[in-house]
Order: sequence, then structure tokens, then C-alpha cells
Amino acid sequence: MQVLVLGAAAGGGFPQWNCNCPNCFNVRQDSADHQPRTQSSIALSVDGKQWLLCNASPDIRAQLNANPELWPGELRGSGIRGVLLVDAQIDHVTGLLSLREGCPLDVWCTPNVHSDLSSGFPLFPMLDHWGGLRWQPIGLEDNRDVAEFSIPFLPDIALTAFALHSNAPPYSPRRGSPSCGDNLGLYIVDRRSGKSLCYAPGLGNPTPLAMRFLNAADVVMVDGTLWEDDEMQRLGVGTSTGQQMGHLALNGSGGMCELLNELPSSTRRILIHINNTNPILDRASHAAKTLQASGIETAYDGMKFTL
Ligand code: MLT
Ligand code: MN
Ligand code: ZN
Repeated sequence: MQVLVLGAAAGGGFPQWNCNCPNCFNVRQDSADHQPRTQSSIALSVDGKQWLLCNASPDIRAQLNANPELWPGELRGSGIRGVLLVDAQIDHVTGLLSLREGCPLDVWCTPNVHSDLSSGFPLFPMLDHWGGLRWQPIGLEDNRDVAEFSIPFLPDIALTAFALHSNAPPYSPRRGSPSCGDNLGLYIVDRRSGKSLCYAPGLGNPTPLAMRFLNAADVVMVDGTLWEDDEMQRLGVGTSTGQQMGHLALNGSGGMCELLNELPSSTRRILIHINNTNPILDRASHAAKTLQASGIETAYDGMKFTL
């Protein structure tokens, strides 16, 4: 299975258009220690021709232009054969609007995400005017916190969606009290190589269920949004904490780094969905050096690997 990182930043991207925090300031100065990143999305393929997008970011146009694997091979077409959504947040779904010329398009998501995208942020009904999104339900709902499924154009790939405790978007009736199916992690096994990836860009809480899949995977790509839970408040750029938004901060006791350090030593550990305020985006920072010393990688746009 081929894995391609289209965008490694959290909502807003890096730099964020209206932000002049030290990271955003420095990346605009072409600092050698800072690298721009677009908003969170990865693509998966078995044959290198047919790709599943995991999340469709607002930056999708630039992401598609930057990755020849996804360019059309015929007069009209695309390497994208379908889209999977891990939640209904703006940074993960807005790119569907830019894919309208390719409708009808298959979209895998849970009933909760489908519901938010049919009401508070009505992408499904809107795109009916262009040929529509064909909903492919992922069965995480009520008390079903694990759902196994497959995707027709990804042969020999077994997908398991598992519920994450994070948050629903501000336009969801479940904001502040999310339920099963608002956020999912993916555990993806390539049956040919036997290798597996755990992808969880919105991991707010290290539940036993989430830890089971993180422990089982050869490669984990997890939530690297914030270094400190109150980082946005400290910088004066926001009022929300990571916990309020549904993100587990990296640093400190019980933080993501500590969890990652407890995984088997053979596990490749990669952070994705990184907020522009996060000091790990400055290669010269103490935070970036701490990660490096622990062997934890920071995803970047264009990162590729094969499992
Ligand atoms: C999140 O990951 O919490 C959201 O994408 C935040 C946002 O709206 O940018
Ligand atoms: Mn996000
Ligand atoms: Zn910033």
C-alpha cells in the first residue's frame, strides 16, 4: 500500500492567512527552519493509479497540482476514486466542493458525519446539483465503536474504523457532547505485506480502544495539533484549549509523546494535523529536538511511504 501525505497542517494551514504568530511570521520570511504545510489529508493506493483520499481539505487544488499521481490520465478524470472522511470538520471536508466537476463521487463516512454534512454544513444536498456524492456508510453509530469494511478499488486492503473521543464541529448539534461516529480512526492492513497503518488525526483521548489499534500498527499517524493544551491562549491567538477542540497535546504527562514512547520500539511514529502555533514546526525549537531525540517524525506535504 502506498501512502501519500497531501497536507500535514491542522485547520488554517501553515501559515494561516490571518495569523502572525512567531511560526507564521517566520515561515513567511522563508526561514530555513520552517516549512509551509497545507491542511490535513492523506491518499492511499495499492496500484499507484487509483487513490482513496482520506479527507478533502480546502487546499485540495494545490495538493492535486503538487502530486502527479493524482493527475488525470485521460481527457477528463482523476487518480481519486473515492473520499473517506474521518469527521465533518471544515479542514477535512471543504475540498469536496472543489471536486464537484468529478461528481458523482463515492464518499465513505459515518451516519453522524453524513448528518452534519446534510444539515449544519450541507455539502451532500448542495453537491446533488452537480451529480451528487454517493454516501458509502461506515457503520460506527450508537454503541458500535468498531466497523470493518473494504473499498472496491483497494484490493487486499482491510479497513477498520474505530471511534475516537474528540469533538463534533461547531455546526453540529453534538458539539461539546460528541457521540460514536463523530470522529474516527482508521486501522488499515495490507493483506499482501501484512503491514498496517493506524491513522488518527483527531485523537483527543487515549481510550483503550484507540490504544489497542495504535499498539497493533506498524506505522501510526496521529494527532500532532498542539504542543501544549493551552498553547493558543498563551500565544494570544485563541481561546480554546486542545481538550475543548478534541485534541490531545503532545507535551507533558499523559500527552501524545508519552503515549507514542510506550508503543513497541519497532513502530514508526508520525505526527500529522499540526497547528501553525505548534513549536515543532520550528526545526530549531526545543520541542522539535525533543521529538527528534524520541524518533517521532513530523509529517510534511509530499511525504510518501510504502507499507
Ligand atoms: C479541529 O481539528 O479541531 C478543527 O478542524 C478546527 C478548525 O475548525 O480549524
Ligand atoms: Mn482539524
Ligand atoms: Zn500562526
